[in-house]
Amino acid sequence: MTTQTPMIEMRSVSKHFGSVIALSNISMKVYSGEVMCLLGDNGAGKSTLIKTLSGVHQPTHGDMLLDGKPARFKSPAYALDAGIATVFQDLAMVPLMSITRNFFMGREPTIGWGPLKRIDWKYADRIAKEEMARIGIDVRDPSQPVGTLSGGERQCVAIARAVYFGAKVLILDEPTSALGVKQASVVLRYIARARADGLAVIFITHNVHHAYPVADAFTLLSRGGSLGSFRKEEISREEVLNMMAGGAELENLDAELAEFQRNDRERKADGAPAPGHSESVAAAGHADAPAGERLASDR
Ligand SMILES: Nc1ncnc2c1ncn2[C@@H]1O[C@H](COP(=O)(O)OP(=O)(O)O)[C@@H](O)[C@H]1O
Ligand SMILES: [Mg+2]
Repeated sequence: MTTQTPMIEMRSVSKHFGSVIALSNISMKVYSGEVMCLLGDNGAGKSTLIKTLSGVHQPTHGDMLLDGKPARFKSPAYALDAGIATVFQDLAMVPLMSITRNFFMGREPTIGWGPLKRIDWKYADRIAKEEMARIGIDVRDPSQPVGTLSGGERQCVAIARAVYFGAKVLILDEPTSALGVKQASVVLRYIARARADGLAVIFITHNVHHAYPVADAFTLLSRGGSLGSFRKEEISREEVLNMMAGGAELENLDAELAEFQRNDRERKADGAPAPGHSESVAAAGHADAPAGERLASDR
């Protein structure tokens, strides 16, 4: 693996916005067929990093390489043409447009030529339906508005589109953050599929339960700097949790809940009735998983 050329690499990349240093001296390697999880608090620079990789921002200093060759993208369209597909935090999808139109947006297949050239909707509908079926989503009518799909399915349209158009790198900025457990697992399964297809995946999430099972490696950002990259073998789930946004606060919360529980028990032992609301706090402290993990999964 170490002899393999990374599909995407950053070498000492910095990004300044005027006097704000959003990224400082970041180096990172992501390999084909692997998922790199980007971790870090809010404002750590995660979105800036992936926007720099995907041509939204130009790096102020440093180099980026795609498959070993120097890469600089004037815009996201150039990055996409080079094989870097990004699903941004605020999904660029039009809810009233059909699934097919969203799938092909800007790359519609045509039929005929000259004045008779037109979009081949029949073919486009068939491909959209087939590609969604390939990831386990049965779309009965691909001409229905994308807004009729659930959040997870919509994310999957974006990911399926990237894979279909031959992306080598797939970048996802918090694709599971607004989803319920079932929907998130659909997206996670497709991330695993993209990895199996040989894509290099960069995945940003706040949820340790989403990050840990699919990740091969982790890179931790803090205040625009990198605290390093770790292979999964080198790092436990608990360590990952602590590196995530709010990990430290959640640990404190865990301690607070334990304290509540202790006080509550003592009060009961003294014969004083416990106030109603503290019952539920105590109950939360009794559950199997540490409070931090459960709260993290609720984000
Ligand atoms: N276009 C911009 N202009 C000025 N500052 C920015 C811009 N984009 C991001 N920043 C700053 O860069 C820092 C990192 O932001 P961001 O990359 O969005 O963090 P994250 O995604 O990790 O929450 C923040 O302090 C933010 O205010
Ligand atoms: Mg962000």
